Amino acid sequence: MNRILKALLIVLIIFIAGCYYDNEEKLYSEISTSCDLNNVTFAATVKPILQASCFACHSNSTATSSGNGIRLENYTDVQNFAKNGILMGVVKHSSGYLPMPDGGGKLSDCEINQLQKWIDNGTLNN
Ligand code: HEC
Repeated sequence: MNRILKALLIVLIIFIAGCYYDNEEKLYSEISTSCDLNNVTFAATVKPILQASCFACHSNSTATSSGNGIRLENYTDVQNFAKNGILMGVVKHSSGYLPMPDGGGKLSDCEINQLQKWIDNGTLNN
């Protein structure tokens, strides 16, 4: 085998190894970021998301001082903002809505999809 062929072979092996590594990385990240949309409930999914990212300003005790009086702790309050479209508007940062969390990072795609799923399922108190 001449030198050029050897060099080409080495480049090819590195290239193939590189592709394999990329695939493995992609596969791993897909597994680690899997999002459960099958068991979405108000108590186990929606409320914990709001608690983590919104209660600092919108719980029953913080709403008056930090959340402009907007409460997102009780089911009926959340249901109202879900049904009039404001909840998804603010978390998706849609134009015409105040982007929420106020001054914080946007919710993850998974969290946004889970909120949407709960709404699509009928905003149940489950
Ligand atoms: C740091 C405080 C803070 C956090 C955290 C926060 N908000 Fe707000 N939110 C506000 C304030 C203040 C307002 C009043 C609107 C204004 O004038 O900015 C508001 C308004 C709203 C409104 C009413 C919008 C309208 O057009 O009537 C909704 C709905 C809302 N927030 C949802 C959320 C949700 C959902 C989260 C969590 C993902 C969240 N907020 C996190 C402070 C916060």
